[in-house]
Amino acid sequence: MNNRSIYLLFLIFLLMFSSCAKEKTDNRRIILGFSQIGAESAWRNCNTNSVREAAAAAGIQLLYFNAEQKQENQIKAIRSFIAYQVDVIAFVPIVSDGWEHVLEEAREAGIPVLICDREINIHEENFYAGFIGTDSLQQGRSAAEFLLAKYVKNAHGISAGEKTVRIIELTGTEGSSVAEKRALGFREVLDEYNSQAGAPKFQIIYSESGDFLKSKGYELMNNILEKFSSIDVIYSHNDSMTLGAIDAMKERNIKPGTDIVIVSIDAEQAAIDALRRGEINCVVECNPKQGPELMKLVAHLVQGEAIPGITYMSEGVFSEDSDLSNLPPRGY
Ligand code: AHR
Repeated sequence: MNNRSIYLLFLIFLLMFSSCAKEKTDNRRIILGFSQIGAESAWRNCNTNSVREAAAAAGIQLLYFNAEQKQENQIKAIRSFIAYQVDVIAFVPIVSDGWEHVLEEAREAGIPVLICDREINIHEENFYAGFIGTDSLQQGRSAAEFLLAKYVKNAHGISAGEKTVRIIELTGTEGSSVAEKRALGFREVLDEYNSQAGAPKFQIIYSESGDFLKSKGYELMNNILEKFSSIDVIYSHNDSMTLGAIDAMKERNIKPGTDIVIVSIDAEQAAIDALRRGEINCVVECNPKQGPELMKLVAHLVQGEAIPGITYMSEGVFSEDSDLSNLPPRGY
């Protein structure tokens, strides 16, 4: 389906929806327009379900639009939400730049906007009401801190050696705040260590985007294993890419988690299972269950109440040193 057909379908959907939505507005039900970026990972599907379920539980009418990984589709969806005069607009920005015009239009229409999950590069007041999502800078730092703990001083207080630790980074979607900040936080911690320490040193020998997709993680890993004979660590910006990379390693009889240390982000069930099997060494959590907090913010905005500029989800770190025996099923 091309972009034009997606947009036309969306407009038809809005028209079909309008009669019952009007009635709901009269009954003072809140209408939330939500533009999701797509369905690129199990994490993303859980994030969508969380928003849908929380809206239903809160009695909020949701106008949902899947942008199929295209910023232009998101901008069209936001414009449709403005035309429809929803009460609040929420969207997950696929990339950080390029939102000024459409946010200006929402502001002129007097519709408050919430930025979800990923951040944007506009920090002026009044462009949007608030951000709710994950702390990706901290996720990058946590990934690096695990490596420091493992190589500099492991759980037994023993230094793992003097050699340079050669790291390959699989990054997320280019231009997205999560990819930028996961890269930044990771480097921040390792650079600081490298500038002070004698050995071991940490060196990122290669970095490439796998777009948060399992298929690309697999493809990248195959190319990387052709190119590099000695790799100590894979740092992957999400579990989908990590699981693809693990498949590629296994096909070459490389033992993930043993021959190559693996640090991943998200903590979806399949990654936690791999951690339990010893095929991943550390998983930094990125919490997709943002729906309930989002609905609270929406309700506050509709009441004209102030909300925090930033709401971060609570997130943890799971590693080979963690006791996972009581960890409940992840739900994604
Ligand atoms: O924006 C959050 C990231 O997007 C998650 O880490 C990834 O799995 C998703 O697709």
